Amino acid sequence: MDLLIELEPVVATNLERHLDAAKEWMPHEYVPWGEGRDFVTEPWEPGQSQLSPVAQIAFEVNLLTEDNLPSYHFEIASRFGRDGAWGTWVHQWTAEEGRHAMCMRDYLLVTRGVDPTQLERDRMGQMRTGYDTGSKTPIEVLAYVSYQELATRIAHRNTGRYTQEPMAERLLARVAADENLHMIFYRDLVRAALQISPDETVQAIAKEAMEFEMPGTGIRDFHRRAVQIAKAGIYDLRIHHDEVLYPLLRSWKFFELEGLSAPAEQARERLAGFLSDLDGMAAGAEAKRERALASS
Ligand SMILES: [Fe+2]
Ligand SMILES: [Fe+2]
Repeated sequence: MDLLIELEPVVATNLERHLDAAKEWMPHEYVPWGEGRDFVTEPWEPGQSQLSPVAQIAFEVNLLTEDNLPSYHFEIASRFGRDGAWGTWVHQWTAEEGRHAMCMRDYLLVTRGVDPTQLERDRMGQMRTGYDTGSKTPIEVLAYVSYQELATRIAHRNTGRYTQEPMAERLLARVAADENLHMIFYRDLVRAALQISPDETVQAIAKEAMEFEMPGTGIRDFHRRAVQIAKAGIYDLRIHHDEVLYPLLRSWKFFELEGLSAPAEQARERLAGFLSDLDGMAAGAEAKRERALASS
């Protein structure tokens, strides 16, 4: 609890900066409503989607991930509290996140991008499962959400590009811009935590990098879908290593910090080993993809 109290003034400053940077935007302006047709008189059929099967998978996984917002709200509200600057942030963040599933679902329904019945069943399944981060400390949650917001930003951005559909790309780029500001907020809080409590923060950063899982793991068929998303280059090990973990660690000067305790040093060494293994696995996956492309 002490760290949360010590971080409160940093939360207040970063919140002010965030509110200044977060431009108002209207979800309804990102949906081509004129394309809408009645599902009763014209039921959904697979051929109606302009999105390729893999683009549909990626879009749907991103949407179902966003759908679990009530669970995410619970996670951060119960860790950070609902009072003072922390509480203002928790509610601001939740309000901004609320737009994401809203406009992504509207887009998919209006453009008949995915099977609406399956989408609804998957949403029910995902939300019934809920999302539970286990027993993370507040600083572990801060490290986790830094990685997660950046991973989500990249997943949305790359999914938008992959669709090759200008409206989808515009919408997902807009959502990704929100995720970017969220990442900046959490990243800078972790940086402040490194000043206040370096040993504890270093261990949290290392643990959360090594244990990281996307929040959508509870989605039906998540692993099969994640493989397709990786094969398409939308989100894979290379991206996770080069564009999520490393940029944050570099920004925190993680490997340059001095004067750490023995357990923090050990955590840092374990993370270095983990990153080099991950880099090796990413290289292996790339080579496999190239071989598959060459033989097709
Ligand atoms: Fe989001
Ligand atoms: Fe976000």
